[in-house]
Amino acid sequence: MAIERTLSIVKPDAVAKNFIGGILAKLEGAQLTIIGAKLMRLSPAQAALFYGVHRERSFFQELVDFMTSGPIMVQVLEGENAILRNREVMGATDPAKADAGTIRAEFGANIGENAVHGSDGPETAHEEIAFFFAQAELQPR
Ligand code: CDP
Ligand code: MG
Repeated sequence: MAIERTLSIVKPDAVAKNFIGGILAKLEGAQLTIIGAKLMRLSPAQAALFYGVHRERSFFQELVDFMTSGPIMVQVLEGENAILRNREVMGATDPAKADAGTIRAEFGANIGENAVHGSDGPETAHEEIAFFFAQAELQPR
């Protein structure tokens, strides 16, 4: 299995509820290693660019408003099969449909405020990591 990197975000709802530690513990518990991390706040322009793939969707403006409503915690995760592994530990987009024990089942409120983001494939992982981090900010080990 390949060692991959993926981008993970603790979204504003979960940061506001002090769920950062609980969420990072689940990620590390899934053998994902945090090799870069920062607490920051997105501007509306940054959020719209990051979620550009969804710009035609009905929930786009709501998503941008939500993602800019407070600070987020962004991290790069590294590990075997990290992209899929992160998606598995995140759970389904809608917390009501997420498997028990997943981050979204435990920490998500609803389909919009669902606690975490995770890259969905190798290409988006590469782009999303570069969106937030310079190479020098990553500490692989
Ligand atoms: O985050 P994930 O990849 O699981 O889902 P997505 O389909 O890529 O959607 C991105 C984000 O848009 C979700 O995580 C939700 O925060 C939001 N969304 C929403 O507000 N309403 C929907 N019906 C679908 C997604
Ligand atoms: Mg997605």
